[in-house]
Amino acid sequence: MNRIKFDYSQVCNFVKKEEISALFPQAAEALKTLKNGTSKGSDFLGWLDLPAAITETELNDIEKTAADLRKRTQVLVVIGIGGSYLGARAVIEALAGSFDNFGQSDMKVIFAGHNIGEDYYHELMTYLSDKEFGICVISKSGTTTEPAIAFRLMKEMLESKVGKAEAGKRIVAITDAKKGALRTLADQEGYKTFVIPDNVGGRFSVLTPVGLLPIAVAGFDIKALVKGAVDMRKECLENAQSVAIEYAAARTALYKKGFAIELLANFNPKLHYITEWWKQLYGESEGKENKGIFPAGVDFTTDLHSMGQYIQQGPRMMMETVISVEKTAHKVEIPFDEANLDKLNFLAGKRVDYVNKMAELGTRIAHVDGGVPNMLIQMPELTAEYIGQLFYFFELACGISGCMLGVNPFDQPGVEAYKNNMFALLDKPGYEEASKAIKSRI
Ligand code: PA5
Repeated sequence: MNRIKFDYSQVCNFVKKEEISALFPQAAEALKTLKNGTSKGSDFLGWLDLPAAITETELNDIEKTAADLRKRTQVLVVIGIGGSYLGARAVIEALAGSFDNFGQSDMKVIFAGHNIGEDYYHELMTYLSDKEFGICVISKSGTTTEPAIAFRLMKEMLESKVGKAEAGKRIVAITDAKKGALRTLADQEGYKTFVIPDNVGGRFSVLTPVGLLPIAVAGFDIKALVKGAVDMRKECLENAQSVAIEYAAARTALYKKGFAIELLANFNPKLHYITEWWKQLYGESEGKENKGIFPAGVDFTTDLHSMGQYIQQGPRMMMETVISVEKTAHKVEIPFDEANLDKLNFLAGKRVDYVNKMAELGTRIAHVDGGVPNMLIQMPELTAEYIGQLFYFFELACGISGCMLGVNPFDQPGVEAYKNNMFALLDKPGYEEASKAIKSRI
């Protein structure tokens, strides 16, 4: 099959090709430390082999559980935050219809536990009140506040609606094999569970049941997704030079020249959550020790009418990586109009995608002319298999880039700061001193 391609020729006005290729040995060395388990954060390298390690039996178990949930319910509420929801959401939003939000199974998959919005929960419970629903609760630590609150609400609602016994059959928990409050509860209540491996961090967990179960419930082909990742893994781990090495080296070379922000841009609204997943992956992996490229996302052409001005003429500190989907799934032609008041008849008979592709090309050239180095990722089509390739490509390049930067790409110590303050402000037992200290500041 074809593979996604990476083209960095449009960065060469900003950094010499030789400056990028001079970084290839460092990128290859970083890859070596990931492969031989000597990188920083080496306890969390399980994602490297996940696609090849997952067995047919495990995939069949996920599909069987998904089929059972589909039989019992119309709506699945996936509860999780960060790496415990973004991967599943990215695939489902990329492959589902834009308006019905259904997968190929007439089953609606919706998300909770990724915010603490009271109105969100009121509206969610109102929406669910006349629906047959199930819950997939995902938390590696099993103690994260946002999903824990959501699960309390959803569990209570489900049990009072269908009774504890039936609720127990509609709840699936994905968590640590042994520790955490969610593991204890799931064991007590006898829920079906799946395990997040110890050596896989949240943002690298899309190819575990964390991503695969919700995607299977939505009716998408998890075996194709995994196959794509397997292909990309083979390509990148078995060859000295690869797209992951090139991407890591190109963005590192640009960062060294002062391009401290990377925009991931798409020209397909279905990719919005792929960008959200990518932002978490790179932001949490690289942004530490006062270092790291800031990952930002834009949806074009929509954001060309908002952020486009800044990108074109604001401070010159951004690089841009465009994900381009070569072939659309459907054809829509622009109709001829007798009156031609909008003067669009020059486009009559042309595909909407042709106009989109010209917008994409025109934008890339304009941004390069305006001082924004441009990298291009070409996906032949938006399918599960290519998304699997893309995930593995981004994960591997992220691991390599983080190692080149000198940070531990697999921890996220900074995430604790807001939690500690929030718990202190909420008078959580054990936070008495912190509570006094923070309250004296307000
Ligand atoms: O990448 C990570 O590890 C984090 O973003 C986590 O996924 C996120 O904080 C959710 O954690 P948990 O799954 O433990 O609830």
